[in-house]
Amino acid sequence: MRMTVIGTGYLGAVHAACMADLGHDVLGVDVDEAKLAALAAGRTPFYEPGLPEILARTVASGNLRFSTSLEEAADFGEVHFLCVGTPQQPGSAAADMRPIDSVIEGLAPHLRDDCLVVGKSTVPVGTSDRLAARIAELAPVGARAEVAWNPEFLSESTAVEDTLRPDRIVVGVTSHRAEAVLGAVYSTMRESGTPYLVTDRTTAELVKVSANAFLATKVSFVNAMAEVCEATGGDVTTLAKAIGYDPRIGHRFLAAGVGFGGGCLPKDIRAFSARADELGFGDSLRFLRDVDEINMRARQRTVDRARTMLDGRFLGRRVAVLGAAFKSGSDDVRDSPALAVAASIQLQGAHVRVHDPEALDNARAAFPCLDYAREPEKACEGADLVLHLTDWAEYRDLNPAELAGVVDVPRLLDARNTLDLEHWRTHGWDVGALGRGN
Ligand code: UGA
Repeated sequence: MRMTVIGTGYLGAVHAACMADLGHDVLGVDVDEAKLAALAAGRTPFYEPGLPEILARTVASGNLRFSTSLEEAADFGEVHFLCVGTPQQPGSAAADMRPIDSVIEGLAPHLRDDCLVVGKSTVPVGTSDRLAARIAELAPVGARAEVAWNPEFLSESTAVEDTLRPDRIVVGVTSHRAEAVLGAVYSTMRESGTPYLVTDRTTAELVKVSANAFLATKVSFVNAMAEVCEATGGDVTTLAKAIGYDPRIGHRFLAAGVGFGGGCLPKDIRAFSARADELGFGDSLRFLRDVDEINMRARQRTVDRARTMLDGRFLGRRVAVLGAAFKSGSDDVRDSPALAVAASIQLQGAHVRVHDPEALDNARAAFPCLDYAREPEKACEGADLVLHLTDWAEYRDLNPAELAGVVDVPRLLDARNTLDLEHWRTHGWDVGALGRGN
């Protein structure tokens, strides 16, 4: 099937490469020529395990090509996937719809008869109806262009696997024709037994935002329990393990720590609340404000705890930060809790040196004021406190005995709760963690 993928960021680049790998004829479209040139040369502009291989394979086979022209895209595709970003608007909680709107303005006047425009981006509920109305206004007379919604559930760091072997596929359609076209796009997954749900467009839009709202709520729930444990002397890691054995609760997304960040969960819950206010059902999602507050408090609690461990004073102290990415397996630093904490500590007078195995360049571009090191040991040289902020597996393999000889004072705060604190203690470290009593 001939399809375009419009927007080649995290979502679009992965979707385009995976669709091409399934045998479809794919045109990736973006306004950023440099990004397209890199992709066409088989280079990904971001770190995503497995993507470079699949990209190289599909570009070489000719199944995946790139263009900056929406006119060419309209002419080429039977199906157009919208994968452009919907970031938080500056100074507002709502999503910025300008990128998606400008794609529709450029694409619709050239659309071919009978094509299908399929939204994948995370959008305010009601967007698909609005875009369908605009396309009907702009499309050439007689072009029967339809709109469908097909949310994407990929996570950074497992994006290729999530796309090729998804937990479920949701398609929101208004006609049997659209349903049949999307059924053909995803035939491989359907044949292999992936749950496949056909619904209306509104429900499809809501499935995406409610899934992210649920995940955010789960993380903030466990971080609220971390606050309770800190106040009462309990241990949130054991608590989470114990409640997670109940299959109705489950263990995933119950890791307490510095809280969630990234380009999705924080802005999605805010945009969902803002949309609810706009449509007059703000009370139904009031709890998401608490979810957001608990999450932002986790960053503040990390800073406060670090200060307490340094006897109440950051000024003139050296702090080593392990991790800059918003989570392990990614070089993404958008709304990274690690960098927010590092910057706050630096602002309060400490000298902060940050290490990350993949995200250093992005971190440096976003926070040039911080100091950076290419090795964890270098970041720790002369430190009064080591702060563990991103859950990279390699930090679990650090040698506390060796590091004790590098730092000034062997003091560790584990704000991800993934290090073996007993092990560090036996090598003379004064250790602290979030949500584990004192
Ligand atoms: C999230 C969702 O998990 C995906 O299902 C969704 O498709 C995607 O957003 C999206 O909307 O595009 P992602 O932002 O890649 O994916 O990252 P997550 O794995 O959800 O992690 C989000 C944040 O929560 C990270 O900062 C992570 O460290 C934190 N987290 C996660 C915790 O603090 N504790 C946990 O137990 C789990």
